Amino acid sequence: MRIIAGRARGVRLAPVPDGVRPTSDRVRESLFNSLGQFFDGGEVLDLYAGTGALGIEALSRGCERAVFVERSGRAAAAIRENLRRAGFEVCGEVLRGEVGEMLGRLESEGRRFYLIFADPPYRIARGAQGDVLERLLALLTPGGRAVWESGEPPAERAGGVRGVTRHYGGTVVTIFEGPEQELRVAICPGSFDPVTSGHLDVIQRASELFDHVVVAVGKNMRKSAKLSAEERARLIEKVTGPWDNVSVEVMEGLLVNFAREQGARVVVKGLRAGSDFESEFQQAQLNRTLYPEFETAFIMAAPEHSFLSSSAVREIASLGGSVKGLVPDEILETVQRVYLDAGGEQT
Ligand code: PNS
Repeated sequence: MRIIAGRARGVRLAPVPDGVRPTSDRVRESLFNSLGQFFDGGEVLDLYAGTGALGIEALSRGCERAVFVERSGRAAAAIRENLRRAGFEVCGEVLRGEVGEMLGRLESEGRRFYLIFADPPYRIARGAQGDVLERLLALLTPGGRAVWESGEPPAERAGGVRGVTRHYGGTVVTIFEGPEQELRVAICPGSFDPVTSGHLDVIQRASELFDHVVVAVGKNMRKSAKLSAEERARLIEKVTGPWDNVSVEVMEGLLVNFAREQGARVVVKGLRAGSDFESEFQQAQLNRTLYPEFETAFIMAAPEHSFLSSSAVREIASLGGSVKGLVPDEILETVQRVYLDAGGEQT
């Protein structure tokens, strides 16, 4: 038996000890083909590991670390030898013992795996297999995969997770996908005419609380803005560029519809002095009537920004005053130029 692909491609593995039923080369190859380009770092767990061929193949193809669980002392020795042959001694951990006991240990340590292989002996009762399967699925990272090799297909749904089953002669391989992580997306809407240091502070603080923040630049406003929504969005992109989980979009129509399109249930607004509250409260209530599951969360403006507004920036810039510190430095020159003489009378 040899490693099929990756860094250790072609490495010959140690002879299979008596009593171990290795995954055949054909099944191994098809299995890895169906996993495709899945091997992007992460930790792999190889249960009932036998010679460790599956876990080592995953290491060879890009997994970072592997844990092998094997009851037989001779098989565990073969895994160590195979890790040595493939040059992966430092990335492999061999746990000798019963799978149930080792799963308990991994659970209590809070370990999570990107990829899990389980090749239980076919003689294990179906009920016991179902129990192991459910427990190992709980160890998957969101979006991770578990590969279950058996003599017959597992129950239709294991732990609420549906698998894709393929038959290779007498071997049945089912690939389960871990729960997809639901991204917590928040919308930061506004006119941003122009974006101020206060807006930026709120956007940054929101980006630390949510998985993703969509800055929504209102397009159809009663106010006639000096810059188009697209131009205002470009200025925000310039200053939020370093934050990977922030994107900027132009918003047409209702905020609640935009939020639905973006998969967001939360809108984040900055709140300054008492005067903001009245209109924000009204908007939040109206949005809730339009979309009952929609929540509005407020982030208190930092004290140094509590006096700051886009209209104040427009007014100062239009009269030739400096707005340094009031808007991010990267857009200072543009703001001074665009708003000079543009009039600061709007709100
Ligand atoms: O910076 P602003 O002017 O306070 O931003 C106002 C904005 C764009 C957030 C608000 O006008 C808005 O949500 N517009 C979208 C249209 C809408 O959904 N209106 C009903 C909300 S009461």
